[in-house]
Amino acid sequence: MSVLKEAAVAVRENAHAPYSNFKVGAAIRSASGAVYVGCNVENVAYPEGTCAEAGAIAAMAAAGDYEIAEVYVVAGSPMPVTPCGGCRQKLAEFGAGDVVVTMATTGGMEQMTTLADLLPGAFSQAFLDTQK
Ligand code: THU
Repeated sequence: MSVLKEAAVAVRENAHAPYSNFKVGAAIRSASGAVYVGCNVENVAYPEGTCAEAGAIAAMAAAGDYEIAEVYVVAGSPMPVTPCGGCRQKLAEFGAGDVVVTMATTGGMEQMTTLADLLPGAFSQAFLDTQK
């Protein structure tokens, strides 16, 4: 099992998902080679819940690391789990378009894509730079 897969599968066990019963684990390898993990943390006030990807990104930034090299996301769904829209934007903040995102199931299915394919036409710094 790859390091990222192992990390994502393991952290998924720590998810706090009593409302959806949908546990998600995410692992990020940064450009420095370090691995950061996150799980979804739900809240009784539903909108306050956070996604696994957001947790992994927060752990990366908290460590002073800001460049995503690879992402692995796993859930117990029958089909590989795809990051939500908000998480696509969050991942794009720290990763180039060619960063590979592996979406997986606990049953062993894997589907690979890239950040560019997940978020075509992304809002980016370029828009801010060209503002008049
Ligand atoms: N969720 C994630 O953590 N990541 C994804 O990629 C998809 C959805 C979480 C949010 C919520 O806690 C639960 O899965 C059901 O939507």
